[in-house]
Formats: sequence, C-alpha cells, structure tokens
Amino acid sequence: MDRLQSRSDRAIHQFDTFLRTFMPHAATSQRANPADNAVDSALDDQERRHAASLMRVNHTGEVCAQALYQGQSATAKLPLARKQMDHSALQELDHLAWCDERLTQLQSRTSYLNPLIYLASFGIGASTGVISDRISLGIVAAVQEELGRQRDVHQKALPSGDHRSRVILRQMAVDEAHHAHLALEAGGVRFPAPVKWGMRLVSKVMSKGVYHL
Ligand SMILES: [Fe+2]
Repeated sequence: MDRLQSRSDRAIHQFDTFLRTFMPHAATSQRANPADNAVDSALDDQERRHAASLMRVNHTGEVCAQALYQGQSATAKLPLARKQMDHSALQELDHLAWCDERLTQLQSRTSYLNPLIYLASFGIGASTGVISDRISLGIVAAVQEELGRQRDVHQKALPSGDHRSRVILRQMAVDEAHHAHLALEAGGVRFPAPVKWGMRLVSKVMSKGVYHL
C-alpha cells in the first residue's frame, strides 16, 4: 500500500513538474531571485533583444534539465541517490522560474522549440535510466557541466549593462557545478572527451535555433 501510495505520489509530482515546466510563468522558485537587488543600466532595443535571446537559450537549457530529471526519475532505480536527485531537480526549477521572470522583464518569450526539446530530453533521461543508473546519472552530470559552461559564455556575451541576467547566470552556474558533482558522486559515469564534444555540438546547434525561435 505504501509502495502504491509512493508511486502515485511520484506520478502526481511528475505531472505537476511537467505543467510547471510548460505553462508560461507557472514555475515558481523556492529561493529568492538573485537579481532582486541588481539594477540594470539602460539597454537600447538591440541590446534588449540580444539579452532576451540569450536568456531564451538559458531558459530552454532549464527545460532540457527538467525533462532529463523527470525521464530519469520515471525509469531509474536510484536506490541511494533519488532524494539527492529530486533536490537537485527542485533547485533547477528555481532556474526555470528566474529565466522566465527575466524574459518577461526583457519583454520577450520562451522558445517555440521547447516542446520538441522537452520530449527529446525526457526520452534520453528515461531510456538511459532503463539501461543503467550510472549512465543516467552520468548524462545528468555531463548536461549540467555543459550548461555551466554555456552560462560562462553567455555572461561574457550579455550587454555590459544587463546586470540582472548576469547575476542570475552566475548563481545558476554555481548550482549546476554542484549538481554535476552530486550526480558523479552518486555513481554517474564520467564520459570520455569525444562524447562530451558530441554533446557540445548538439548543444550549439540547438542554441542557435532557440536564439531565434
Ligand atoms: Fe539549471
């Protein structure tokens, strides 16, 4: 009975997270937005559009991370790491909410490609969870490392006056490095460099599409 209850609880939790990931402005953060006290310099129209496009890419990265965690949670056994991974996924929801909020402030929107990217990422999380918890955790770690690398690139690419976006990305990078470490510590496989290069290439192609769409 407890087990049934626990499974139904998880299914409800998954559905709730799915809705929060997809519904505009539905994601809420548990922590305060790190940009609450930051003040922007004036951005002209071109700078605002560029910043919004970069933040759209970052938001989609969070959709990808949520889908991976949800796919992993649906199939992986994770006897020792489930609580820790659930906690990481919850912190990643903060990132989704912060990016969403920033996109609204920049008078922009989330990507039209999000449903496609969500489905692909959920599929990867779920299928690797079926194969092996270690591979599933390794994918989570590699994706978090790649997202962290992308945050660093975007911090430099943002208009110099966009302090709010920069503060958000800085906190996200700190969290993501921690989440990658936790996934590896929980037994995740460390993938060889060619696999990571392949992931980086996919990420770059995806980012280019999301920047415009
Ligand atoms: Fe994140």
